[in-house]
Formats: sequence, C-alpha cells, structure tokens
Amino acid sequence: HMDEKIDLQTISSRIKNGEITRVVVLAGAGISTAAGIPDFRSPNTGLYDRLAPLNLPYPEAIFHISYFSHTPEPFYAIAQARHPGNLKPTISHAFLALLAKKNVLHFAFTQNIDGLEQDAGVPTDKILWAHGNWKSQHCWKCKTEYPDDLMKKAIREGEVPYCLKAECGGAVKPNVVFFGQSLPFEFDEKQKLVPEADLMLVMGTSLKVAPCSQLPRLVKEGTPRLLINMERSGDIGNRKEDVCLLGSCDQGVRKFADELGWREDLEALWKV
Ligand code: OAD
Repeated sequence: HMDEKIDLQTISSRIKNGEITRVVVLAGAGISTAAGIPDFRSPNTGLYDRLAPLNLPYPEAIFHISYFSHTPEPFYAIAQARHPGNLKPTISHAFLALLAKKNVLHFAFTQNIDGLEQDAGVPTDKILWAHGNWKSQHCWKCKTEYPDDLMKKAIREGEVPYCLKAECGGAVKPNVVFFGQSLPFEFDEKQKLVPEADLMLVMGTSLKVAPCSQLPRLVKEGTPRLLINMERSGDIGNRKEDVCLLGSCDQGVRKFADELGWREDLEALWKV
C-alpha cells in the first residue's frame, strides 16, 4: 500500500476484503450530544461555557477532585443534566455495536460515562469506560460505599449526599473519574491493544484530555486513523494515512456504513 492514497473508500474496502479486522475505537462526548447530553468544550453549547452562574475558579474545577473535596455543590447542581434517565443510544453508538457484530471490533475506549455504548449492544468485554460510570459511589474521603437509592435521590434533587459515617463528613462522589484521579487500573493493560490496531476510529472527542488523548499516537505508523468529528482534533490529519470525516458523528457513521454496504444492518440494529 506504499503509495496508495487512503480515504474512506479504501478503508471500507479493506474491511470488506478482510484486510482490516482489528478496529480500535476512541469515543468522546460528541457521540452522545445527539442523545441529549451536551459536550464539554463546544463553544456556547458545551458545558464549560455554561457554568458562569456557579462561580467556579475555572470550568474544569467542577470535575476536579481537590475542588470537589471542599465544594461539591456545583457538581450536584449539574449532575442531573449529565445523567438524565431514559436516554436512547445514537446511531453512532449502534455503529460500535455493529463493528463488534461484524467481528472487527478489537477494542473500544470511551471517555463517556453515560453507558449508552452498553445500551446499544457493545459487548462489555470489548470496551473500557475510561472515565468510570455512575453505577456506584462512595465517600471521596473515607471511601465508604453509599446506597444507589439515596444517590439517585440526591442527583434528582441536586443536593450533595454526605458520607453515612457522621464523624467523616466527606461528600459522596460517583465512581466517575475526576481530574486529579487515576483511570481504572485496566487502562494501562488495555492501551497495549492500540498498536495491534489495523484501523483506529476516533469519534466525537476534542482530544484535549490525557491520557485518552494520547491513544491515537500509539497507532503504528502506516495504519490508518479515521476521525469522525465536527472539527479537527489532536494530531489526526498529520499522518498521510489519516482520514478526517468532518461533520456530525451520526452522518459520518451512516456514510461509512454506506461505503461498507452495512447501512441496512446499521439502521436495523439501531432500531432494536
Ligand atoms: P469535548 O467536549 O472536549 O469534545 C467533544 C468533541 O466532539 C468536539 O470536538 C466537538 O466538536 C465534537 N462534537 C460535538 N458534537 C458532535 C456531533 N454531534 N458530531 C460530531 N462531533 C461532535 O468532549 P471529550 O473530548 O469527550 O472528562 O472530553 C474529554 C473529557 O473532558 C471528558 O470525558 C470529561 C471532560 O472534562 C472529565 O471530566 C474527567
């Protein structure tokens, strides 16, 4: 393939002819905006442009563990909006499930905590929720677990839940990864799968937050990296084997599915 110009069509034909069988995915907030959860950094619509009323020292402080440890109120003021119930996966989530169904999903990393990948049918052994999830919670200080029903109530009411050990007094934090905290221990091991990729698909992320932002660099030179995003992000586009599909993720995966001859399968899987 030395001099072949790579584009979406080339990538698609390599998947169809079995040359590409190990797709590694990195997803971010942009795959869930169409489901109703605003992203973080888009001007005006992103969360970080809407936090002025909360008087934070800087926007990311709302997800910083050191800030949360003394001022958890802003986080709980927005928690309900980041964690609405009854959301439907987008067709972009369904596309990830389809990659798995077609046996070409090597592994997916998502920075999202909404869990929509699982709802769409991505097998849980093929994905790492690199920034955690809302399924459990504990006191940030003494680590005491906190019951789900009380947590749900706190989120619904926008009230800070406090440690059940009265003498502790720490705020309860969902097991989502805040700035200043480490990623799940599996991350180190799973990132070794990236150099095994024969295609990397990067979707809906600004690639501004490490260490996930560094994953596309682990792709071997010569291996195509496909970006499906509203805007250019990270260094994708700098290698000659990079392909950028700029626009919405949902439009992008539909176009990709068309090239693959998978469009009907995709729409059917999404509707289930
Ligand atoms: P960002 O908000 O930083 O980036 C979202 C990207 O998706 C931007 O490049 C948007 O242009 C793009 N985008 C938005 N909607 C889109 C759509 N419908 N179709 C295509 N592209 C779209 O979100 P992340 O990169 O996911 O972490 O942010 C990474 C981390 O920063 C988050 O996990 C969160 C945040 O702070 C923590 O809080 C620890």
